[in-house]
Amino acid sequence: LDEAYQETYRPQYHFTPPTGWMNDPNGLVYHEGIYHLFYQHYPNATVWGPMHWGHATSEDLVHWKNKPIALFPDEKGFIFSGSAVIDKLNTTGFGKDGKVPLVAIFTYFRLDIEKSGGINTQTQGIAYSLDNGDTWTKYEDNPVIDNTTMKDFRDPKVFWHDPTESWIMTLVAGNHAKFYRSKDLKQWNHISDFGVGQGAHGGVWECPDLFKLKVEGTDEEKWVLIISIGNGSPNGGSGTQYFIGDFDGDNFTSDQIEYKWLDWGTDNYAGVTYNDTPKQDRVFIGWMSNWQYALKTPTSIWRSAMTLPRKLTLRKQNDSYYLANYPVEQVHRLEGKKIGVNNNLKAGEEIVLENEKLNQSVITFTANKNDFELSLSNEINEQVNIIFDSVSNLFMLDRSQSGLTNFNYDFGNKLHYMSVNELPEEFEVKIYIDQSSIEIFLDKGLYAMTSQLFPSEEYSKMTIKNNSKSNLEIKNQTIKSLKSIWK
Ligand code: FRU
Repeated sequence: LDEAYQETYRPQYHFTPPTGWMNDPNGLVYHEGIYHLFYQHYPNATVWGPMHWGHATSEDLVHWKNKPIALFPDEKGFIFSGSAVIDKLNTTGFGKDGKVPLVAIFTYFRLDIEKSGGINTQTQGIAYSLDNGDTWTKYEDNPVIDNTTMKDFRDPKVFWHDPTESWIMTLVAGNHAKFYRSKDLKQWNHISDFGVGQGAHGGVWECPDLFKLKVEGTDEEKWVLIISIGNGSPNGGSGTQYFIGDFDGDNFTSDQIEYKWLDWGTDNYAGVTYNDTPKQDRVFIGWMSNWQYALKTPTSIWRSAMTLPRKLTLRKQNDSYYLANYPVEQVHRLEGKKIGVNNNLKAGEEIVLENEKLNQSVITFTANKNDFELSLSNEINEQVNIIFDSVSNLFMLDRSQSGLTNFNYDFGNKLHYMSVNELPEEFEVKIYIDQSSIEIFLDKGLYAMTSQLFPSEEYSKMTIKNNSKSNLEIKNQTIKSLKSIWK
């Protein structure tokens, strides 16, 4: 197919823009059989610039079709992150001839130094489409929420709240989230705030998302608030935290003071979920990068990929709630040839698999809670190591020798860790490797770790080493190659 998708480091089963810069996923919504993926996009360079909303669509969340740019910056500002809803009741009046409007709610960002006394202006605007996202009209009375005082005021996520028959918007204002209500997506009233003194605050809050989920295996329902932070994540730079609580139509409350991470890796940021999926599943997509080095990664005509789409579920363990994230079922469609091994390792033993193409594969097995190390390496000895230490309950990822790292100091300078205190005695390990990324899921997504990697040659060898004094049981191991979605 497209030559662009043959480029070194071009992910083969993750979404990337054909050319240009990409950051956050925006406007995730399902409508008339189509999953929309809009994204922060600068088409004219591979670095951040005046933001547009790029656009792609999919019927299965796995195969994507590139569409023309949906929203262009205008005199009111760049088009920053936001969401999209299906206005079934035509509350906006944008609908015509029975056509249901798809409405985008986004932040206008303007460098308006003189007027604002030195700060930029961030206001909220809306636009609509009557042809399922192909063409867009901006609302003439934008902004729908003005702002002259707050430096950070952005990333509106909107959903329809049945009990109050109104639209609810969550946005972020520096160190907290704000909630608004509207009957028509045009007139908004501020209803409450959340977050000061709760969770992680190593950077400004960005890209919120509020939704309800059932606790696995029960009828109990809880509300989840996802918040990205630009700095201060467990392994440095950008990261995604979440709060579990309740939303009564006015207030989101949570007694959670400590922070919880949706993903412990360095490369899963600004993720949000789909509105209106067919079975009301919560499907999450994140931006697979980190503001620490996002502008520096060694790609040429495009920059940055999205994570695999992941289904979110809620688990209750030891009286605490956890948000699990695990690739959606549809990803199985990409599986090809099986390269299987299955083992039980005694102390000091190892499994070695050689001469395989591992850059586009998924490794799955169950392990008992014993120290081990899994390495992927290539002919020139570049390697990425995944180490489990059962005494400290830490999973670690070492990408310092994984390939190109010197494009940025922060990229390869330390061991990344993930605290896995709730891991059961036997757990599944699932590892997705693409041309420039690795996504690790433990216990079906209870713990996730996402990381970019830039090996100079394909990883062709996998080693699993028993680092403990007793048996390491590796069971049901399969390694499958994954097909490209661009061919
Ligand atoms: C998050 C973010 C958002 C903002 C967008 C601008 O990565 O900083 O808060 O809307 O990127 O591109």
